[in-house]
Amino acid sequence: MPWTDGPLPTRWLGQPLWHLDTVDSTNQWLRTAMGSGRAGHGAVVVADRQTAGRGRRGRVWESPPAGNIYTSVLLCPPPERLSGLLSLLAGVAVVQAVRDVTQLDAQLKWPNDAVLHGRKFAGVLVEAGVSPAPWAIVGMGINVNGAPSAHYPQATSLAHEWEGGMVDAKTLFHALLVALEATYEEWLREGDSLVVERWSRMNVTVGHVVEVHQPGQLPWVGRALRLDADGSLWVARDNQPVKIVAGDVSVRLPGGGYASGNCW
Ligand code: BTN
Repeated sequence: MPWTDGPLPTRWLGQPLWHLDTVDSTNQWLRTAMGSGRAGHGAVVVADRQTAGRGRRGRVWESPPAGNIYTSVLLCPPPERLSGLLSLLAGVAVVQAVRDVTQLDAQLKWPNDAVLHGRKFAGVLVEAGVSPAPWAIVGMGINVNGAPSAHYPQATSLAHEWEGGMVDAKTLFHALLVALEATYEEWLREGDSLVVERWSRMNVTVGHVVEVHQPGQLPWVGRALRLDADGSLWVARDNQPVKIVAGDVSVRLPGGGYASGNCW
């Protein structure tokens, strides 16, 4: 049944809302819709399946038709507010929605991977620009009911981690829109510290030993110290704090895994 049936529990997010069967990438689709004037602030697209789902750092996001959520949201913040914090804000909304619907103890790994029991079940990819006005397409992929990918041992799905079995993806999608709309409005009202505080309460990275992978450099190990006000991560390398900016950097547990809540 199309997810466009019935009222949305939001005030402005999801107007309009498109529900597609198959698309290359919801981020790409929304960008095209924006370019042709069909999509503006608050527009949302969700698809059952993507044939060319994009992940961060040029990776592929596997997107089979398996009861998962592949969605993109167009946000047009005031010019001075367009920043990397939006991607952390989206991660906060994903985790909040999952906690609200399943009561699972979902957490965040810097910058915005959502994890359960040390395994990633959701990711966020933000693509942004300033022409003709500031815009950000916030793409979110949540492995809800699909089997964890055999190619990624560190991946999982909500159903796999939840003893309650299948998760109602439409209910979770609505909870995600509600959480995103509320967090976005609070951030505009209260400022960047709101995202930093919420993210910090949900994260499993700060305080842990991490391995930092930067392009063109050998990986190095340090202890994650704190989140910066701009969403970067401070990591102690040989007792010197180093600021790590998201983008081409990945932060992992030594050995390659993701941090779980009580590893260290
Ligand atoms: C990551 O690498 O962790 C980010 C994954 C983001 C995947 C989502 S699925 C919906 C949207 N459309 C895309 O092509 N990518 C994002």
